[in-house]
Amino acid sequence: MSQIIVQGGSTLSGSIAVQGAKNSALPILAATILNRGETVLRGCPRLRDVDASVRILRHLGCEARWEGDALVVNTAGLCRSDISDTLMREMRSSAIFLGAILARCGQADLSYPGGCELGPRPIDLHLTGLRDLGADIREDGGRLCCTAPRLVGRELILSLPSVGATENLMLAACGGEGTTSISNAAREPEIEDLQNYLCACGAKVSGAGTSTVTVEGGAALHGCAYTVMPDRIVAATYLCAAAAAGGVARLTGAKERHLATVTAALREAGCTVQADENDITLRREQDLRAIRPIHTAPYPGFPTDAQAILMATLARSRGVTVFEENIFTNRFRHVDELTRMGADIRVSGRVAVVSGAERLHGATVRSTDLRGGAALCVAALMAEGETTISGVEHIDRGYEDITRALGALGAHIRREDGPDGE
Ligand code: EPZ
Repeated sequence: MSQIIVQGGSTLSGSIAVQGAKNSALPILAATILNRGETVLRGCPRLRDVDASVRILRHLGCEARWEGDALVVNTAGLCRSDISDTLMREMRSSAIFLGAILARCGQADLSYPGGCELGPRPIDLHLTGLRDLGADIREDGGRLCCTAPRLVGRELILSLPSVGATENLMLAACGGEGTTSISNAAREPEIEDLQNYLCACGAKVSGAGTSTVTVEGGAALHGCAYTVMPDRIVAATYLCAAAAAGGVARLTGAKERHLATVTAALREAGCTVQADENDITLRREQDLRAIRPIHTAPYPGFPTDAQAILMATLARSRGVTVFEENIFTNRFRHVDELTRMGADIRVSGRVAVVSGAERLHGATVRSTDLRGGAALCVAALMAEGETTISGVEHIDRGYEDITRALGALGAHIRREDGPDGE
């Protein structure tokens, strides 16, 4: 098994470019099914979850190949509408393929993607919306057997602003007849990126970034060249790394407006953050201080994906910071690992109370999930001594090469791959 070893205590100084957004690339890869042409997806991050999406596309009969930093997908050869249980289980967000396959093929057969480390990951909102558009979906022994000879646009109202449900319904609606409006839609920037990709393919989609997304279905779509937006959570991770270790970091390609709640928290904690249209610079020279309570919420609220990472950053600070996790039921699994490093964090239900420690010490810790693993890397930078982090495969799902990125900022960090490269 691979592991990351960090020698803590050095401040950071440097500049890195932010990778393309995982949570934009994944729905866009599903959306390529809606046209029969070629998509050149520039800035697509090289991640385990992207590899899983490529395996699904190839299983369906599509071609996919890397050309530099672009993933080139040709879906002309799509010839099946089923996804095996094994492929579905490789990636929690594989449910995003359902809407696109239904729109393209009029049928789909796939299994429930299952839960993940963050707790149950239901897709009831996805299925309700697809049924409202005219799909017949039968659940049979963990598989979803879906037929939709005709998808008809209509008003859909989400009971909560689910990112995945918004995206799945946008894709299905592109294959529907007439107009679909999705109310109480998620407003994340990745939804806007998906809309921009769909419009570049000739679709008529508008409203992304607001609570109502409208799709005029039925347009014949074509391939296109598209550049994925920068990953705002990866940007937040590297800003938190600089805040934790101290020093200065400049991120190129990052858009502060996508992570404004995170930069506001870091400013409140005592960092200097300067930004222009396409980059963000953070400087931390004084000790970090506790901040007002953090409540995770749908965008534009504080992102749940940055909760663990900011918590790790404030594990060494002056004062007490309260975190409330309102999106997922099991997203404090990193707390036990941070505690092994000397953090003082008390969890009760959805609330974690972080009493900033004067110092952290290196330890042997394990990544419990994608962002929890990144949080351990952040904590290790400011811990005295050496920290060994296992479970690196979780981190590889969302970070192209966290070791290289933090190393470029001056961190003393290296990766040791296991015998099988894992
Ligand atoms: C997306 O997951 C992201 N993943 C997650 O990022 C992110 O944490 C999440 O949105 C929230 O921002 C991708 O985009 C690939 P949701 P998604 O549907 O779509 C409940 C990361 O670290 N819900 O907005 O699954 C659900 O259980 C990952 O990169 C239902 O109850 O999130 C959760 O409590 C982790 N029924 C809440 O809504 C449904 O049908 C938000 O889920 C769908 C969701």
